[in-house]
Amino acid sequence: MNLTELNRVAEAMVEPGRGILAADESSGTIKKRFDPIGVESTPDSRRDYRELLFRSTEAMSKYISGVILYDETIRQNARDGTPLVRLIEQARSLPGIKVDKGTKPLPFCPGEVITEGLDGLRDRLVEYRGFGARFAKWRAVIDIGPAIPSYSSIRANAHALARYAALCQEEGLVPIVEPEVLMDGDHDIERCYSVTEWVLKTVYEELYYQRIALEGSVLKPNMVVPGKKSKKRASVDQVAEMTVRVLRACVPSAVPGIAFLSGGQSDEEATAHLDAINRIGGLPWKVTFSYGRALQAAPQKAWSGKSENVAAAQRAFSHRAKMNGLATLGEWKADLERKAA
Ligand code: 13P
Repeated sequence: MNLTELNRVAEAMVEPGRGILAADESSGTIKKRFDPIGVESTPDSRRDYRELLFRSTEAMSKYISGVILYDETIRQNARDGTPLVRLIEQARSLPGIKVDKGTKPLPFCPGEVITEGLDGLRDRLVEYRGFGARFAKWRAVIDIGPAIPSYSSIRANAHALARYAALCQEEGLVPIVEPEVLMDGDHDIERCYSVTEWVLKTVYEELYYQRIALEGSVLKPNMVVPGKKSKKRASVDQVAEMTVRVLRACVPSAVPGIAFLSGGQSDEEATAHLDAINRIGGLPWKVTFSYGRALQAAPQKAWSGKSENVAAAQRAFSHRAKMNGLATLGEWKADLERKAA
């Protein structure tokens, strides 16, 4: 393992002013995104859409430090034959790859899941590195309900994340470690805090036991927010304060950076929260975004599968990327959204 190089890549992924575009939706998930905009999901439509994003020169070169790709995409060429990976590199952004194989029910743990994909992972990482990937992503999913999460599911998911991270570092890829506590339930923000704390403590324990060099890793956590169905809403400042508190309590300062998932927050909420977190300041890690939905909802709507809408979609993507880039510096303002509208 070349830790100097891993650390260099990890630092580049979380460079202030920039963040990560999660464009790694599986074919099933991207179909769910395309259905509402009336686009049939085919290899070509998926390619056209992602090509549009990666050719958004302003967004990619100024605000996007890295792109997480899906297995199909890392193998695809743009319409003119250029590999999509090259488009990302030409914009001085880093290509990465989602390597987990999704979730399956965890035996004896009703309502809970385990992320699969460790079998054969070493060989797949070699192949992805050959395509140009510099980092990888694995997402563990923890749901909150009256009797969940269980110790069993948190332990099993944290262990799988650590096994994945070790294989990545051995192969020279920076692991994005993503333990996502879902915001689907009716739980309040305090419950999200305590589950997130438990999950992060367990994840860093397992990473230690699997001998991960934290300097060559990036954490991708959820923010501390109330469940979507909770009647007790939280202010932007409360989300920022509780998120920073749990991260300070659980994430060692050797970790170069934290890149949040958006997890179902609206575009503007995800930006406002990231901005408020960075305004607190004095944090031991860089704090940025690794958003999927919060970066792509606007460009997807603007595009709607029509080639005449490509420029409008690129403008929408550039706008969100810029707003989130400002939020990594604590320099975003709600007025900037109105002016653009
Ligand atoms: P969202 O920002 O849409 O939650 O997606 C980020 C991601 O990569 C989830 O694994």
